[in-house]
Amino acid sequence: MPTTTTLVVGATGATGKHVVLQLLQQSQNVHAIVRSKQRLHDLLGEIDPESSVKFEKQLEVSEASILDLSDEELKKATKDVDAVVSCLGHNMSFKGLWGKPRKLVTDATRRLVEAIEANQAESNDHDKKTKFILMGTEGVTNPAGGDDPRTRSERSVIFTLRYLIPPHSDNESAAQYIHTKRDNPRLEWTVIRPTDLIDGAVSKYALFPKPQGSLFGGEDKATRANVAKSMVDMILSETLWEEWKYKMPYIQDAN
Ligand SMILES: NC(=O)c1ccc[n+]([C@@H]2O[C@H](COP(=O)([O-])OP(=O)(O)OC[C@H]3O[C@@H](n4cnc5c(N)ncnc54)[C@H](OP(=O)(O)O)[C@@H]3O)[C@@H](O)[C@H]2O)c1
Repeated sequence: MPTTTTLVVGATGATGKHVVLQLLQQSQNVHAIVRSKQRLHDLLGEIDPESSVKFEKQLEVSEASILDLSDEELKKATKDVDAVVSCLGHNMSFKGLWGKPRKLVTDATRRLVEAIEANQAESNDHDKKTKFILMGTEGVTNPAGGDDPRTRSERSVIFTLRYLIPPHSDNESAAQYIHTKRDNPRLEWTVIRPTDLIDGAVSKYALFPKPQGSLFGGEDKATRANVAKSMVDMILSETLWEEWKYKMPYIQDAN
């Protein structure tokens, strides 16, 4: 298997840290852009105390707030990467929910995609593709359709979330933006939509084309480690990638 390089944003998040560590454990290279290098090293160290020594050569960490980077800096960060993973999300504080940036996920997605495309325009390698993996939620509607039937109450709650809760609207806008990118055959994407997230180990997971069961109060769960595993598998398995690219797979732990 060739060694890949993946840019991870949101790497200090509850899911992003697993994506970083699992890629490193699979002998892949990772570039993480994080607001605090120390926080990333602490988080990885909590899962694997030896990680900073074992993976020193495979992990590059840049300290920056993603939206503060210039277009040139984003171009540099996305040059020559095989995949970009976004596990960005609004922090669950008053500022995170209601403060700026209101469109963190959408703006980061758009700017990273534009940076990838700017690199592609300057490259002579017309065969090289870049994978973009965006983390969403099961409440994010697939802009291509196919999620129905949702119940009337589910539809009205999604409608309310969309207009009242900025992070939900941001996740939906990001999914809508990435759907406009069907025109570039060298940029392939997927949006992973997990059911209720829990902490726990990697186990078996199942992917479905659309959310299963009820949106509220369902029993299905997905460990964050399994969501990360699905992303890592999609980077490393062309078969899995071919199955799910340009789609919005719903993920839950396999029973
Ligand atoms: N059931 C579901 O489907 C479900 C449940 C939960 C979340 N999600 C979605 O999945 C995604 C990731 O969730 P998570 O729980 O793994 O994330 P999380 O733990 O909340 O982590 C969020 C990440 O985004 C970064 N971030 C937040 N605000 C930022 C800003 N202004 N500038 C730069 N970076 C910023 C954080 O960096 P710092 O560490 O520096 O703050 C962190 O790395 C989110 O989009 C969320 O909506 C889905």
